[in-house]
Amino acid sequence: MSKKTTKTSFFCKECGYESAKWLGQCPNCKSWNAFVEDESLESIASNSVIGSLDIGAKDIEALSLDDIEVLNEERLKTGIDEFDNLLGGGIVRGSITLMGGSPGIGKSTLLLQVAKVLGDKGIDVLYVSGEESLSQIKLRANRIGNFSKNVKFISETNLDVVLKSIIKTRPGFVVIDSIQTMAMNVDDKVPGSITQVRLCTQNIFRVCKEYNISAFIVGHITKEGTVAGPKLLEHIVDTVLYFEDDRASNLRILRCDKNRFGTSDALAVFEMTGSGLSEVVNPSKIFIDSRQNDATGVTTTCIVEAGRPILLEVQALVTKSNFGIPRRNINGGDINRLNLLIAILEKRMNIPLFQYDIYVNITGGFKIKDTSVDLAIIMAILSSYKDKKLGTDCIYCGEIGLSGEVRSIKNVNVRVKESIKLGYKRIFLPKISVDSLDDSIYKEYKDVEIKGVKDVVN
Ligand code: TYD
Ligand code: MG
Repeated sequence: MSKKTTKTSFFCKECGYESAKWLGQCPNCKSWNAFVEDESLESIASNSVIGSLDIGAKDIEALSLDDIEVLNEERLKTGIDEFDNLLGGGIVRGSITLMGGSPGIGKSTLLLQVAKVLGDKGIDVLYVSGEESLSQIKLRANRIGNFSKNVKFISETNLDVVLKSIIKTRPGFVVIDSIQTMAMNVDDKVPGSITQVRLCTQNIFRVCKEYNISAFIVGHITKEGTVAGPKLLEHIVDTVLYFEDDRASNLRILRCDKNRFGTSDALAVFEMTGSGLSEVVNPSKIFIDSRQNDATGVTTTCIVEAGRPILLEVQALVTKSNFGIPRRNINGGDINRLNLLIAILEKRMNIPLFQYDIYVNITGGFKIKDTSVDLAIIMAILSSYKDKKLGTDCIYCGEIGLSGEVRSIKNVNVRVKESIKLGYKRIFLPKISVDSLDDSIYKEYKDVEIKGVKDVVN
């Protein structure tokens, strides 16, 4: 029997930083109390069967740019246009993609659909599930449609077995669902640990690159909103896609965070239906409540995400506080930004908001970082506080500065045109952004009022 030695190291749960001893704070990502002990990578690699796959050190010749051939990467088109576009025109052959998202959001569903269309096109697909039995997968796949024989399934959590099967069958497309259920060199290993997640990803990467296989790796996101050991997985793979969380509606936003073969500033919107996810080709107005909510504290804004204008409803509820410390909450935005906006309203408009609880909700399930929603948030808060309606035909866009000034925003033309297209008649923009509007807008839309706002000062 070969002697196995096990060496352990400490790993940061958040970013995967490895250290020989336990540390209170991670020197890499600065999170506290994140170190856990696990078998060291070196030790696992030396004990793993995958060691036999070692490609060895080859002699290599360095080339000048003139001698380097540019290869056009071959892409597998799925025919699900939103998905293909998100990836920059289809799945690059031999590329490794991480798909993250919270449990139940639709990762397996979407990848089953992708597996089906690729199978229909004659590509051999291997779908590896570590989460569900074969019969569970079959029940689910039946909802999606009839799969061709090109799509094969295995239910397995031992990655050594999975890799052997990949090497033997050489499919064109592989799905690993999910990385947290896989383990290598398993005698007593627990899947889902930092080392296992990293090691499994590295080996999937290695095997798939060696045989030019495209692979999708599913990663669950933890409560804190990160894939277990997110940074290290993001480093390894070529492309990272995340499902953003809005379980309240049927809409699912898939965002590209990193893409070695295309732009990373891209997103796709899907709707969960009885037979899988269907693409939403024009998402700009889908997040607006069709009832046209004309209650107080409700207004509309237009953000630009990945070059696309998207209209969102912003709602605020301002109520007398019964506690010493008022409550503040925001859905779909940043709580620190909300606190800042409230502070600006108190100081610049002399409104005693410290006596009020404030709740803000931005529809759509985006985690909005675009500060152009500031003006809409402030208007919604004022509307609820004063109990005055804002009118259902208004759009507010603008960033608010600390002295209450409304600062310029990008893409004003796109936002204005989209808002007009969807029937909005009064558009409030930063005063200085109004100057950069195309003349054609004024000529074409005479019944639309465009107003420049300079500040929100009393
Ligand atoms: P799933 O793809 O299993 O999520 P994940 O892999 O990200 O954990 O999605 C599961 C949800 O989707 C589940 O609640 C059932 C629902 N669903 C549909 O509504 N329609 C369908 O056609 C399928 C397959 C699932
Ligand atoms: Mg799943």
